[in-house]
Amino acid sequence: MWWGVVAAFVVGTLGLGAWLRWALAGVGGLPVPFADLRHAHSHLGYFGVLFPLAWAGLATVGVVTPGPRWRWFYALSTVVAVVGFVTGGYGPVAIAGCTAVAVVWGVHAVALRGHMRRLRDPVGAVPLGVLLSLACVPPVAVFLRSDPPLALGFVSTFLAGLLLAVLVPAALASRRISPGPWPFLLAMAALSALALGVAPTGLTRVGLLAFGGLLLVPAWSPRLPLHLRTVWAAVALGLVALALGLLPNTRPVALGAIHFLVLGPVLGSLAPVWLRRNPPDGVWWVGHLTWATMAAALVVQGLGAGAWTWTVAAVGGTATLVWWVGVMVFQLPVFDDDQTVDTRSTAEGPVR
Ligand code: HEM
Repeated sequence: MWWGVVAAFVVGTLGLGAWLRWALAGVGGLPVPFADLRHAHSHLGYFGVLFPLAWAGLATVGVVTPGPRWRWFYALSTVVAVVGFVTGGYGPVAIAGCTAVAVVWGVHAVALRGHMRRLRDPVGAVPLGVLLSLACVPPVAVFLRSDPPLALGFVSTFLAGLLLAVLVPAALASRRISPGPWPFLLAMAALSALALGVAPTGLTRVGLLAFGGLLLVPAWSPRLPLHLRTVWAAVALGLVALALGLLPNTRPVALGAIHFLVLGPVLGSLAPVWLRRNPPDGVWWVGHLTWATMAAALVVQGLGAGAWTWTVAAVGGTATLVWWVGVMVFQLPVFDDDQTVDTRSTAEGPVR
């Protein structure tokens, strides 16, 4: 049942994303304010997709993850937050759901503190990564009315912090890849999150440059299939280009980078252990092409390209949704046959 709930969260996130993309492309309207639906989409993606898949990945390498009661509490809190956003924006219901989710993250982060003793274990970055990211939440609340651009900067740092200091380390750990001592990984992730949000200074951009360099480790790793190494390399080079100013640090570019990082390297690393049957490499290449289309359209939009980029981004986003729905339909028992292999039992470790 848990698998079904997370699968519903995947379809919900991507479905809302595609709806928003077509609305931005000028096709069809929205029944609620755009910002509310965007909050619902991004929070469902982080809460309902990325964290549960990170737990699935970490469980395969023996890392403790929240138990069944915590998970159901977490799923319910996620639903409350998303319904809250859709019905009332950043109001009391959404805030209550988000707070409950943050409690689960906090409790789980404390349970992972033992990993901090192992210097080369990327999971060591997770406890402080969660705490540092959550530290951005009070400033968002404080500046929301008095200084909305500053509040938006803290939101970007919060989201980038979770992605770079929590989810990327979890994705690497799930594939038994260490990019070096975790304090360095964490420090560079924190500087990068500041560079991508509230403080794009010279120092934080050096951190972003170093973090991009660290992502060349998975790009080089013989443990990963070629398609995954290629997308890790693409993200590493993209972050280096952002740090060096070769790509402008604007919203469309940041959106393109975040979506490609999430859909390509992060989900590409985590999903194979969550899916009962991992798609063949050729199907993964097709998937990477779909989210690369969306991301590339956003990046060239950030470079000043015309209205066509909105349509291409919507087409790429819809193709991403179709890809994921296809992969999940392929998991249904009706496709089982005698040759079915449970891909969660890989050479990298048993299912726990
Ligand atoms: C698990 C997958 C995904 C995650 C975690 C995710 C996360 C996010 C985040 C964090 C934002 C920025 C929110 C903000 O700044 O307030 C965002 C915005 C957005 N996402 Fe996604 N996303 C995912 C997949 C997708 C897909 C597949 C599509 C398209 C089909 C999509 C379409 C959008 C749109 C249209 C926006 C708003 C852009 C704007 O404000 O101009 N997302 N998403």
